[in-house]
Amino acid sequence: MSSPAASACTDTSAPVLRDFGGGPFGIYVHVPFCATRCGYCDFNTYTAGELGTSASPQSWLAALRGELAAAAREFAALPSPTPEVATVFVGGGTPSLLGGDGLAAVLDAVRAEFTLAAGAEVTTESNPESTSPEFFERIRAAGFTRVSLGMQSAAQHVLRVLDRTHTPGRAVAAAREARAAGFDHVNLDLIYGTPGERDADLDASLDAVLGAGVDHVSAYSLIVEDGTALARRVRRGELPAPDDDVLAARYERIDARLRSAGLGWYEVSNWAAGDAAVCRHNLGYWDGGDWLGAGPGAHSHVGGVRWWNVKHPARYADRVGAGGLPAAGWEALGADERYMERVMLAVRLRSGLPLADLAPAAAPAVDRVVADGLAVRSDDDRLVLTDRGRLLADGVVRELLG
Ligand SMILES: C[S@@+](CC[C@H](N)C(=O)[O-])C[C@H]1O[C@@H](n2cnc3c(N)ncnc32)[C@H](O)[C@@H]1O
Ligand code: SF4
Repeated sequence: MSSPAASACTDTSAPVLRDFGGGPFGIYVHVPFCATRCGYCDFNTYTAGELGTSASPQSWLAALRGELAAAAREFAALPSPTPEVATVFVGGGTPSLLGGDGLAAVLDAVRAEFTLAAGAEVTTESNPESTSPEFFERIRAAGFTRVSLGMQSAAQHVLRVLDRTHTPGRAVAAAREARAAGFDHVNLDLIYGTPGERDADLDASLDAVLGAGVDHVSAYSLIVEDGTALARRVRRGELPAPDDDVLAARYERIDARLRSAGLGWYEVSNWAAGDAAVCRHNLGYWDGGDWLGAGPGAHSHVGGVRWWNVKHPARYADRVGAGGLPAAGWEALGADERYMERVMLAVRLRSGLPLADLAPAAAPAVDRVVADGLAVRSDDDRLVLTDRGRLLADGVVRELLG
């Protein structure tokens, strides 16, 4: 496709915003703190020892308030009125380290600058070991509607390889406590394919997840991220790298168990017990919606302009203090980039990619993936992955963009 290319800009001037894109509007808040770092994780998060006196939850919250105020001012200058906030997602890092009062203060900070829509979805991620019945009651009363817990596995030896500090039973207990506190929407995150994980370990994890009565499950294959302790252990030969065939078999096992328990896939790595249980915030990302990402290293996307914040909490607070948005860089997406993103994200959804969104040149590729049994054309003219296609979703995307 011939079109203007994206204009990338890595000076630290504020992004040049045009207008809202017209889709749902969400706010992501990044909490950059963890008690310890898990060996597989390369998210933008810091332990207290790494931060020293350079940043704290208190200085972060003050900076977050400043960033939200700056964003509200920027948005007020756009042609369209700022939409009501349909979804809020507090992620990390470990948001539950802030405690119930801290998370209530985060939501108050959002409400101070933006209007939440009636029925807004308000999620927080939490680590099982930093939650309690009182924590869930406090955040429910504060207005959170959904909790996402990092369980990863029910097998102690798998949790040990992942450096997770909670006991196998704690995640399930936390999910029950969340439900008892009035949360209808609770997610458990699983990681599969960890070195040493056996089929029986995965089965135990699935038993535990289904026994917890949650309405949402995310299951991610273990990614060995460059620069992590896990990558170093794999490179030294201490641990084997996850095997692609094992990962595919585990994915099929997960899908079969969840499906038979009434949880259907709606994105390749996400299953929900019906439409009311899907994560609307994440759907906003996958559907090309608008969102403000606030906090160190957070990414934002408004009307085809994308920007990302400075990563270190101390530099982030300095930038907010200097006024304006704490962006480290930004880019205006060109038509090619928008098209690639649309294909990459929509193909992974159960609702599929509207065939009308595909360039005419992609027609032979559509014929090929359908003939190979990787996707079907639905009655409403969408390209939807088959069960086998979900295992090869990245290959389908490559074929379509080929
Ligand atoms: C970054 S964490 C943040 C929330 C919380 N701290 C936790 O650990 O659950 C969100 C989820 O990302 C997933 N994740 C992080 N790094 C991963 C990796 N290298 N491979 C697969 N999943 C990963 C884990 O399932 C984790 O639950
Ligand atoms: S607790 Fe979550 S965010 Fe923190 S290091 Fe572990 S996986 Fe990453």
